Amino acid sequence: MRATITATSRFLPEKVLTNSDLEKLVDTTSEWILSRTGISERRIVENGEVTSHMGTKVSLELLEKTGIDPSEIDVIIVGTITPDMIFPSTACLIQNKIKAVNAWGFDLSAACSGFLFALEAGAKMIESGAYKKIIVIGAETMSSILNYEDRNTCILFGDGAGGVMLEPAKGDEGIIDSLLYSDGSGGDFLKMEAGGSLHPASIDTVEKRMHFLQQNGRKVYKFAVKGMAESSQAVLQRNNLSGKDLSLFIPHQANRRIIEASAERLGLRQDQILINIDRYANTTAGTIPIGISDAVDSGRLKQGDYVILTAFGAGFTWGSILVRWGNCK
Ligand code: COA
Repeated sequence: MRATITATSRFLPEKVLTNSDLEKLVDTTSEWILSRTGISERRIVENGEVTSHMGTKVSLELLEKTGIDPSEIDVIIVGTITPDMIFPSTACLIQNKIKAVNAWGFDLSAACSGFLFALEAGAKMIESGAYKKIIVIGAETMSSILNYEDRNTCILFGDGAGGVMLEPAKGDEGIIDSLLYSDGSGGDFLKMEAGGSLHPASIDTVEKRMHFLQQNGRKVYKFAVKGMAESSQAVLQRNNLSGKDLSLFIPHQANRRIIEASAERLGLRQDQILINIDRYANTTAGTIPIGISDAVDSGRLKQGDYVILTAFGAGFTWGSILVRWGNCK
């Protein structure tokens, strides 16, 4: 029995931070950001729109679209590296807000691959037969861990959330196959060092700016192209498919050049690729569910379509999931 996505939803805060706004904060230009990354603007939370708030909005819309009662939800999985707090989990906060009184849940930390890993976990739970209705969310408040004095990182990210309802498939649609990976030897290239047991919050960690995201952009770039292209190629091949069979390639939105280089390796045409990085930037675990929801709302997915979801992120973590699109609201 396969798991299938029966509804999608996304929530983007209203406040827009443009490249020109960033010109006032750091030594950069709109043109540099657009040409090097493909980003024009990103959304930023305000007035308490924290991660659980965005995840709750997404969950409520999923319930409304499917007509499922909150009490029928079995599990809530939230891919996030920017939870409201270290504990309790964002999944518990959402569970309470949506009154999913019979659900259990947990947060899953895999950075930009967070939604992909959460979707795999949810799909396997459905396949086991033990669970019937699972909400899988990717939600991030990246602005809470960015240093708006560091031009290398603050221009790249935005806030936002997306999610899907997972249910047992009735036919041959659904999540067909996946290839997911971790390689902790890449951990130093993208991280937030403080706030955990290694460097608990202190005046020293704040003064040394250890509560902000840090990264080696060039290293991440190279691994990202390789990871997304190779895992997508491999999952297609082992299902006797190729790039030509894909209706849509929904990649993590980290950099337009990373997306295009990965798509080129798969021999994809422009119309097979979902790109929305121009509007939302990199929302980490949010990019893929936001992309799926964008694709559904713009009529780019129909029943029977083959779709690849692929991501790369801190850890390193990466991989691809092959989906045969079903009836989805
Ligand atoms: N505005 C202007 N100049 C900037 C800048 C900015 N916002 N950010 C960096 N630069 C400068 C650098 O300081 C560097 O200057 P230097 O050569 O004098 O040191 C120069 O631009 C070129 O840097 P480089 O790293 O070669 O640029 P790039 O073409 O690789 O683009 C990234 C940089 C960060 C956009 C790119 O490497 C990237 O997207 N990496 C992936 C990062 C990512 O998305 N991570 C998220 C998890 S997947």
